[in-house]
Amino acid sequence: MSISNDLYPNASLPLERKDSGVPYVRQGLHVESYNDFDPLRHVIVGIADNQHIPEACPASNEKIPAGSPMRGGKAGRRTQESIERANECLNGFAKILEDRNIIVDRPGAVDWHERITTPDFSISSGFGVMPPRDCLLTMGKSMLMAPMSFRSRYFEYLAYVDLMREYFESDPNCMIEQAPRPRLSDDSFRMDYVAAYEYLSDAETMERSLRKEYSTKETDILFDAADVMRLGKDIFVQHGLTTNLAGIRWIKRKYESQGYRVHTLSFEDNHPIHIDATFCPLRPGLMLLNPNRPLFKGQREIFEKNDWEIVEAVSPAWDNPPPLCYSSTWLSMNTLILDHKTVCVEASETGQMEQFDKLGFDVVPVDLRDAYAFGGGLHCATADVWREGTCEDYFPNQFSGAHSLEHWEY
Ligand code: NVA
Repeated sequence: MSISNDLYPNASLPLERKDSGVPYVRQGLHVESYNDFDPLRHVIVGIADNQHIPEACPASNEKIPAGSPMRGGKAGRRTQESIERANECLNGFAKILEDRNIIVDRPGAVDWHERITTPDFSISSGFGVMPPRDCLLTMGKSMLMAPMSFRSRYFEYLAYVDLMREYFESDPNCMIEQAPRPRLSDDSFRMDYVAAYEYLSDAETMERSLRKEYSTKETDILFDAADVMRLGKDIFVQHGLTTNLAGIRWIKRKYESQGYRVHTLSFEDNHPIHIDATFCPLRPGLMLLNPNRPLFKGQREIFEKNDWEIVEAVSPAWDNPPPLCYSSTWLSMNTLILDHKTVCVEASETGQMEQFDKLGFDVVPVDLRDAYAFGGGLHCATADVWREGTCEDYFPNQFSGAHSLEHWEY
């Protein structure tokens, strides 16, 4: 498919392929990451190019706040002005990282404007690639493209295929993988739930969430990579709107055979989607918890029994997210950690910056708020390619119970 470069000025160019079809090798390229805090050496930063607001689909409806204009007639391309401003933020962020000698790659161009039609569904457009964190799961030396639940995001992985191919050829130990593709037909969702959703009060949606009942059913294997928190040998996965129990079971079966230990996590949150504005590792032994989304009973234990401290995040600087934004104001705690002492925080989040300062971090302010609406904060806007460090055992004191998948099986 030919795509106008004018619409994708920030996308990485398609790979120049040799006659044999083998992509070029980038010397010294290394793929490896086991957590979110070891020294960052290579990262993908998203782009806002040609991003669209897709029409609502069964999974996305549950995420979009009630009363948002995105529930109705706003589907279509985002304004050129907002795209350019978001790219200014994202490019500024990429430059800050490059100035620190971190290698930055950008996603490739895919035509987000095209209607998406599969044998199982059809939707007005794709979405975009501002948040690579949702789609790409780097687990040790493997990079996996996740089975996401939004219909508009079904082909989002295509934006990473050329990069992945290059990583594969450049690092002889790297593995690129694709989770089972979901169908996302109407059978994959509780359609009655979806229809009723926008008329439910916060108390009612919370009740459903506490019953672990979401618009996604267990028909497909579903997870977003941003629901997965990597802490060396231990992997914590949030069950919620975008990750179902089948998805967690798949992650468990795949990674436990490689020596990882997979645990479920759940929070009192009426829209549990993506763990990285809820519970965030800051450095070995230290977690940041969203005070409005407490951990369920028993779930602190594994942290406490292994001498991890859990601190509550301070309130965000803003009372409301920016217009046409899918996320809450808690993007304040969605940061990018560069090493055990350095953290990138959104520049307007003064309280959050102060808290990091008190916790002993050097804070790098990054202007990103005007890109929030395109898919999240600093953590969302990135995906790890390489962090130094090895796969550590941060939780030698293991016990079964609150974190086992069976605990959440109904
Ligand atoms: N769904 C989360 C954002 C995750 C990055 C929130 O809106 O707080």
